[in-house]
Amino acid sequence: MKTIGILTSGGDAPGMNAAIRAITRSALANGLTVKGIKDGYDGLIRGDIINLDVSSVGDIIHRGGTVLGSARSKEMMTEEGQNKAVNTIKEHGIDGIVVIGGDGSFMGANALHNKGVYTIGIPGTIDNDMGYTEATIGFATACETVKESISKLRDTSASHGRGNVVEVMGRNCGDIALYAGVAAGAESILVPEIPIDMDQVINRMIRGRDRGKKHHIIVVAEGLENSAEIAQQVKEATGIETRLTIIGHVQRGGSPVVDDAILASKMGVKAVELLLEGQSSQAVGVKDGKIFNMPITEAVNVKREFNTELYAIANILTN
Ligand code: F6P
Repeated sequence: MKTIGILTSGGDAPGMNAAIRAITRSALANGLTVKGIKDGYDGLIRGDIINLDVSSVGDIIHRGGTVLGSARSKEMMTEEGQNKAVNTIKEHGIDGIVVIGGDGSFMGANALHNKGVYTIGIPGTIDNDMGYTEATIGFATACETVKESISKLRDTSASHGRGNVVEVMGRNCGDIALYAGVAAGAESILVPEIPIDMDQVINRMIRGRDRGKKHHIIVVAEGLENSAEIAQQVKEATGIETRLTIIGHVQRGGSPVVDDAILASKMGVKAVELLLEGQSSQAVGVKDGKIFNMPITEAVNVKREFNTELYAIANILTN
């Protein structure tokens, strides 16, 4: 292992830059040469490669997004695209690649492994939807952003005695809705993992209003695909003017919170260690605060367990 490449793929996530910095600096400390691959697998396919030295990754740990750029590469899903990627890897003398991204990005890393390239995956997505790891880089920051947004909505909601349906990201995973919803004290949290009980949502709003409550926050995970309908339904059933707010891509930006910057730093160092040990197609994860690795093919098949304990707590606290 003499030269490694780094790429970020899929939706960007706060903390990706901290991971790029950690991989680069620990690789350099081990005498390796480091190349940055631009725009995810698309950049690998078209041969868009830059050299990374100590100062190329200076002043980025606190920045959101990814300095390397990212993409959801369709071409990488084809044999032809993968072969082009391997050609670039050979041309630039790259021995191993660290991929920071979600499930789809990990499959790309496994495809490269099957073609003889050493690869390691680091989980980078705000969605926290990867079952093998307790946390993905970017999730904690996205939750913080949602929590802050809800606090602001609560101010205006309370001034007008309104209800707010707040749609948050997460694809099919309800974790952002659950964790940010609990932290923000939302009255109801609706996620794809738990059947919706609209009567409960409506009754909570009515009970709250009857005891003088001025704000009513309902967090809805985007995976339910019906936040507008929910807003309309509660408005009609309660008579409380209810607005829909879709937080959107704001959730993907911003400086990583401490947990994300540390997770990214630890995982970056671990990825380089694994490459130096000659391991390949390994997913880096965290469990009980400890960084570990397991084969990507197994990691992508671990079913994500929804935190029903926290969901139950949310229900106790808002009833
Ligand atoms: O996977 C991250 C994520 O932000 C999801 O939460 C969301 O569904 C999706 O990406 C949005 O994708 P795009 O930025 O391509 O619209």
